[in-house]
Amino acid sequence: MNMMLRRLSRAATAGLVAAAALTAAAHSAEAADTLGSAAAGQGRYFGTAVAAGHLGEADYTATLDREFGSVTPENEMKWDATEPSRGTFTFTSADRIVDHAQSRGMDVRGHTLVWHSQLPSWVGTLGASDLRTAMKDHISGLMGHYKGEIHSWDVVNEAFQDGGSGARRSSPFQDKLGDGFIEEAFRAARAADPAAKLCYNDYNTDGVNAKSTAVYNMVKDFTSRGVPIDCVGFQSHFNSNSPVPSDYRQNLQRFADLGVDVQITELDIEGSGSAQAADYTKVVQACLAVERCTGMTVWGVTDKYSWRSGGTPLLFDGNYAEKPAYDAVRSALGGSGGPGEPGGPGEGTATCTAAYTRTADWNGGYNGEVTVTAGSEPIGSWTATVTLPARQSVSALWNGTAAFNGNVMTVRPSWNGALAAGASTTFGFTVTKNGSDAAPAVGACTAS
Ligand code: XIL
Repeated sequence: MNMMLRRLSRAATAGLVAAAALTAAAHSAEAADTLGSAAAGQGRYFGTAVAAGHLGEADYTATLDREFGSVTPENEMKWDATEPSRGTFTFTSADRIVDHAQSRGMDVRGHTLVWHSQLPSWVGTLGASDLRTAMKDHISGLMGHYKGEIHSWDVVNEAFQDGGSGARRSSPFQDKLGDGFIEEAFRAARAADPAAKLCYNDYNTDGVNAKSTAVYNMVKDFTSRGVPIDCVGFQSHFNSNSPVPSDYRQNLQRFADLGVDVQITELDIEGSGSAQAADYTKVVQACLAVERCTGMTVWGVTDKYSWRSGGTPLLFDGNYAEKPAYDAVRSALGGSGGPGEPGGPGEGTATCTAAYTRTADWNGGYNGEVTVTAGSEPIGSWTATVTLPARQSVSALWNGTAAFNGNVMTVRPSWNGALAAGASTTFGFTVTKNGSDAAPAVGACTAS
């Protein structure tokens, strides 16, 4: 398809998008939210990686079209797919995905322009000055073809080494052009499509660690010198060896504080059942807690086509059935199910329990902690009461907000309301004893 036709097809899509918005507004309270509609309600996009080869499968496409608001071509925009020999661009498979997305009013993430992997061998044979030219030509050729059609591009992918060194990874670009290749790529990308958000994307950078700090320092340097960068992508491929970091939100926030958007770009979490659901909830809550976290993309529609299918890391199983992780994500996004579904009308079984422990004790006071655990259904929020013995008073509270009625403290979540089925959160408080060492009584937990 030539560029003029692409632009026309994009203009035609605008009408479809407007129609879709009207449908969403007319949405009755009984209708189930989708991942995309629930995320949109939070001002975020919810996307998935898509493989062109599966678009002919009716269930695949129906699930994609129903649930997602953004797509990332899983392999079709990579260098080996788009410029297999120098100067010869092939866009057939990527066009299929972009055309499909546009016809359904979905946005497209571009992935990826400069990466050491899935790189055709001719690139590695070039000398430095030829390689610089080839890199810029690749960026302008690929971005030019989709100019105005991509909301965010992963300009450079995985340029840093794992581990504690904070060093750049060896690649033809790094080895021949030096650290400056990243900056050159971003400058070429801005020139090629000024409307696209330009992202740096990587993995094992999800928590605060040496690798993410090296990326952080690069982004800080770029923003201070006016090198064009708009966003940082956090791949977020998790499993038991690489779990959701406890400082995930803090890490996203420190990047956002540099003045760039953050996006979760390739989310998948190996596991199953309520444990997997709870991990997904953590990720969604972290993104929602960071104002500049503009959206999330899962790395595939169904477990059966996942690049790590053995780990069943996605939201739909191999038969396109919604997994507990699906319900957890939708409810963490503030969405609800249809009649009888989790969070939906008539479902009515949201429950929680609250359990108390004293976690610290000293002469004049103590710290108490309450663990709130969702029952067999995901919950959107909870309330717990704590009755203090006579004379005691609360001097601090964390992970919750309190209202007092005499000695009864009613605690609501501050950021930790949504819980997957069986998942837990805690809130804590510091008590001044005023001469009484008695334990407080935790009342019933109520969930909604
Ligand atoms: C993966 C694809 O999912 C696979 O189909 C392909 O064989 C290899 O690449 N980081 C990235 C993605 O940035 O492009 C990778 O995608 C997964 C890791």
